[in-house]
Amino acid sequence: MTLLEAATAVRENAYAPYSRFKVGAALRSTGGGVHVGCNVENVAYPEGTCAEAGAIAAMVAAGDTRIAEIVVIADSPTPVTPCGGCRQKIAEFADAAVKVTMCTVDGLAQTVTVADLLPGAFDAAQMDRA
Ligand code: THU
Repeated sequence: MTLLEAATAVRENAYAPYSRFKVGAALRSTGGGVHVGCNVENVAYPEGTCAEAGAIAAMVAAGDTRIAEIVVIADSPTPVTPCGGCRQKIAEFADAAVKVTMCTVDGLAQTVTVADLLPGAFDAAQMDRA
């Protein structure tokens, strides 16, 4: 199963009663495992947890911490772009050159790098004097 197929499949499980906007994400870790996530909303915090964050949590829970590639899909007019918080989370676990492919359910896709998504990312090296 490709990452796009995995992201498409997990998107069906999204719990998005407030936004009604279902998102699926699938990543391959450097260890080779595929991990998936969907968005999960709740009444107190309707933005809930993003699909990308879910896939990252699944990767970490499985014992891996580096993303080799990630795909995100939603039913949007243009390829769905990760929110600001997810960009930072992806950058925590991926090298700057890692590919992020953003897709729509009707077949549009755009691939960018982590550096494209979050230029000038804050990283741990900036705290070296702390
Ligand atoms: N969402 C994601 O899961 N990933 C994105 O990249 C964009 C937004 C979710 C969060 C919320 O459940 C819904 O989409 C609307 O913001």
